[in-house]
Amino acid sequence: MTSSTAEKLISAIRTIPDYPKPGVQFRDITTLLGNANAFATAVEGLAQPFIGTGIDKIAGIEARGFILGGAVAHRLCAGFVPIRKKGKLPHDIVRVAYSLEYGLDEMEMHRDGVKPGEKVILIDDLIATGGTAEAAVKLLGQIGADIVAACFVIDLPDLGGRSKLEALGVPVRTLIAFEGE
Ligand code: PRP
Ligand code: MG
Repeated sequence: MTSSTAEKLISAIRTIPDYPKPGVQFRDITTLLGNANAFATAVEGLAQPFIGTGIDKIAGIEARGFILGGAVAHRLCAGFVPIRKKGKLPHDIVRVAYSLEYGLDEMEMHRDGVKPGEKVILIDDLIATGGTAEAAVKLLGQIGADIVAACFVIDLPDLGGRSKLEALGVPVRTLIAFEGE
């Protein structure tokens, strides 16, 4: 990704100071999604390294990972599998508990969403602490997926998410970073 492409993505993201609480800079991707050129650039940037590599499935994390993951799946002629917050999926599921800032939550996917050995890319909009993506990696691991990479538009490197996934042996790819957060 060239620096001008990264600049395009950065300038398409709206930053809301002190949301949802004082001191947090909220990176709002709705402006990127609503900008046809920036949205296409993000999807192409996520998909490009994997074109022609035989990816079977994109796993997208609810909610923002659904929007990007669906588009990347289409670009790679891959299937899409949703990783959802608890209680939303109707069939036989696998489940993992993970820590949030306050307390625990659970994430689920259909047990037959990915077959053992299928090549999967995990997609979300942003990696911060990495807790959400780590839980998704564990879910995919439970069903024997071959996790080729975890890909995000935005990295907040100071929060350490990348190293959490890399410690699990998952290559991480991000398009842009906001430092100092
Ligand atoms: C945000 C973001 C990532 C996650 C990253 O989602 O979309 O999924 O936080 O944080 P982490 O790396 O510290 O785990 P959020 O849980 O706010 O929900 P949403 O996507 O449904 O809006
Ligand atoms: Mg999210």
